Amino acid sequence: MYDTVRGWIREARHIAVLTGAGMSAESGVPTFRDSQSGLWARFDPQELATEAAFRAHPQRVWDWYAHRREMIARVAPNAGHVALAAFARRHPGRLTLITQNVDGLHQRAGNTDALALHGNIAEDRWLEAPSACCQPDTIEAGHPPRCPVCGNLRRPGVVWFGENLPAVALEAAEHAVSHCDLMLVIGTSGEVYPAAGLAFTAHQSGARVVIINPEPTPLDVVAEQCLRAPAAVCLPSLMA
Ligand code: APR
Repeated sequence: MYDTVRGWIREARHIAVLTGAGMSAESGVPTFRDSQSGLWARFDPQELATEAAFRAHPQRVWDWYAHRREMIARVAPNAGHVALAAFARRHPGRLTLITQNVDGLHQRAGNTDALALHGNIAEDRWLEAPSACCQPDTIEAGHPPRCPVCGNLRRPGVVWFGENLPAVALEAAEHAVSHCDLMLVIGTSGEVYPAAGLAFTAHQSGARVVIINPEPTPLDVVAEQCLRAPAAVCLPSLMA
């Protein structure tokens, strides 16, 4: 099974890769649907990662992201991230990396042009459209930081449930999956759209789809192979 997929990778003209939280699991970043630990155990991430949650409890949601940022700053790309980055370096223009992860680990491994569909946790932006008074150099520290003049709040630069994805990244991802001949879907539960729909687009456009995930997912129906293994274990030998 692995030899077959290795052959497809070798032969493919263009490979699209979609990654999710499972890609970073072996770096020590808990997946979104894993239970949370410590102080945050009683909160459901799906109830923190929304605009409504932020507006209702700005300090709680800000502090939760601060906690995730600190955790991510302490971890490093794993062998799976490194294998994808090394492949892209060896084969310029042959691989498009699309990620739902906001942790920046693909970029740190060397995939600086990864399409970050859900944004980047290291960045902030204004909650409301900024007025002239909302200037980067006058932001008042706090949980969350704010404009001292109008009170506009800073919010994490990630895409929350119910929000639109960045249009340019989504269009580039759709183009890549409609024109690839092989798509690798790695470490995603396949439950969050529009990202999950990219696997169906690739399949309908005639590409082979390979899923790498220890657990079954709703995307398995379009997969020609499902490799039930952790990403950091199987990617180094697949992409070599
Ligand atoms: N290797 C590969 N897959 C793994 C590994 C691993 N080592 N460990 C776990 N997985 C798989 C799980 O089996 C699961 O299918 O990773 C998946 C993680 O699923 P989710 O936590 O739902 O993450 P994801 O699919 O990325 O979530 C999508 O939803 O919560 C929002 O915006 C957030 O980007 C996120 C999106």
